[in-house]
Amino acid sequence: MSDERSTSTISTDRLFLRPLRVGDMTPAYVQALTDSEVVQWTEARHTQWNDARMIDYVQRNNQPGVSQLFGVFLKESDRHIGGIRLFNFSQAHRRAELSLMIFDKTQWSKGYATEALTALVAYAFDTIGLHRIVADYYAVNTASARLFAKAHFRIEGVFKDHVMLDGRYVDSVRVGALNPNEVETSPPPPQPAAAQRIIPSAGPSITEYEVQLVAEAARDGWYANMRRDLDAFEHKFSAYTGMRYCLATSHCTGAIHLALTGLGIGPNDEVIVPDITWVASAAPICYVGATPVFVDIDSRTWCMSPEAFERAITRRTQAVIVVGLLGNMPEMDAIQAIARRHRIPIIEDAAESIGAEYKGKKAGTLGLIGVYSFNGTKLMVTGEGGMIVTNDRRLHERFKRLAHHGINKRPGARYYWSNELGYKYQFTNIQAALGFAQLSRLDELVAKRRQTFRWYQERLGGVEGLQLNRETPHSRSTFWITTAIVSRTYGLRKERIVRALVHHGIGGRPFFYPLSSMPPFAPYCRGKDMKRCNPISYELAPYGVCLPSAASITEGEVNRVCDALVGILRQGRIKSPRRPNALISR
Ligand SMILES: Cc1ncc(COP(=O)(O)O)c(C=O)c1O
Repeated sequence: MSDERSTSTISTDRLFLRPLRVGDMTPAYVQALTDSEVVQWTEARHTQWNDARMIDYVQRNNQPGVSQLFGVFLKESDRHIGGIRLFNFSQAHRRAELSLMIFDKTQWSKGYATEALTALVAYAFDTIGLHRIVADYYAVNTASARLFAKAHFRIEGVFKDHVMLDGRYVDSVRVGALNPNEVETSPPPPQPAAAQRIIPSAGPSITEYEVQLVAEAARDGWYANMRRDLDAFEHKFSAYTGMRYCLATSHCTGAIHLALTGLGIGPNDEVIVPDITWVASAAPICYVGATPVFVDIDSRTWCMSPEAFERAITRRTQAVIVVGLLGNMPEMDAIQAIARRHRIPIIEDAAESIGAEYKGKKAGTLGLIGVYSFNGTKLMVTGEGGMIVTNDRRLHERFKRLAHHGINKRPGARYYWSNELGYKYQFTNIQAALGFAQLSRLDELVAKRRQTFRWYQERLGGVEGLQLNRETPHSRSTFWITTAIVSRTYGLRKERIVRALVHHGIGGRPFFYPLSSMPPFAPYCRGKDMKRCNPISYELAPYGVCLPSAASITEGEVNRVCDALVGILRQGRIKSPRRPNALISR
């Protein structure tokens, strides 16, 4: 790691890697970097960059022995097309970090990145004598995954980086390579995970159709056309669900908030909600000052248990929020009968179950109000987005006002006049264009999820002590996320299994935690033994693993997931099943 070493030029068939001086990082180069390249390049990712700070950063870090920044030049034209950097050297551990950036994308040809990376790694091991090189990339960056796999980096872990891309926190993947001159020559370590694409836990299917409609909306969905795609989307949604009134919202959380506010629910009221669901099903109950009452789930549907619902009803109960968990459907006949008997309005949270059916009726249409989510993980996506549907015109009118600061939009109404305190939960025309295209393809998207489930079922159906989603006789699930509940006899809780899957390059997710076990809801559960109140929820929650179910998943990838999962379970301790989980023992 001496000074003269950092002046060597590294050469490949098509490229030169030359050490750059600080002066070479001209503002022109800095300006040419796109945001994502800058983000990739520096570890100080949380901050906004400008030229001065970028140059300052280089000056501080590009000291001999501290950091080495190589420019990547084309041999043919001597054009400077990128940079690759070794930095954060540790003399003690003979270790450094590595990052690669592309300046001039138009000049990059297939294979340049691998060529530059391989050459620098060889230089670092053979000439500098490093023992280990590590690098980080975002889990969503499949190109980086392929690149590092080709250069024989292995995945060492996945961690939360508190970095937001496209409005979501993304995980970072840490990869590492060891100096092959110091590694025993045989046998080579098994590295299937690093050599293949990271299997994402979720993700949409976007075709040219979506791209085209969004582009059109971006181009001319303004002025007189500002509601063109919105109206088309809401009408199409109405035709699809058969519900008379549909209002697109900025997200489903907002739609639930509108539903509760529209029903006039507030302090001193109780709203019943299943203990196992995403936090957004219950948080809006607290927004309106009401009390969430968490009830147990059914062990077959993983949705609200009708018996638990009925047991929880009091004189203060003003609504029930029923959730179609993970694409499953609750036992709606029983729930509707109880709700009718006690005159309790049903809000059906179909955020996860769009496309599912109960006795031929679409998810989200079985209550007084239905709500949906189109966030990026859902079966159909609009980035963020939601929908609130009802057959009640007055409720719909109220939702419309509340979704836009209490403003009455009827012809002749006073402009900029707010009648009551409302919110800002509107949807955009551009997102609606995406929603319209996705809704047109909904059957296809559902068919793919169901196919994915069949692949999982064929491979995991026979594995002892493993329970996948179940479809009840009256319902048709979408299997939005195929989920496995693992018998406690393996001695493996969900977090451990998910970590092990991630180690194999597989994006697993844990099953939900009971809401009643989480701090925001503790005040509502004070004095209650929630484990005893909701035994199924607490029994299943620690052992559920959501398996990758992205729209892009292939049969080969499902095989990989199943092989990894079975391997992980095999390593678990199979004890005599003295206390199996309630569900698994059935
Ligand atoms: C069951 C359930 N309800 C509500 C929501 C909230 O949806 P959104 O993210 O659109 O606010 C989600 C989203 O993940 C969900 O899974």
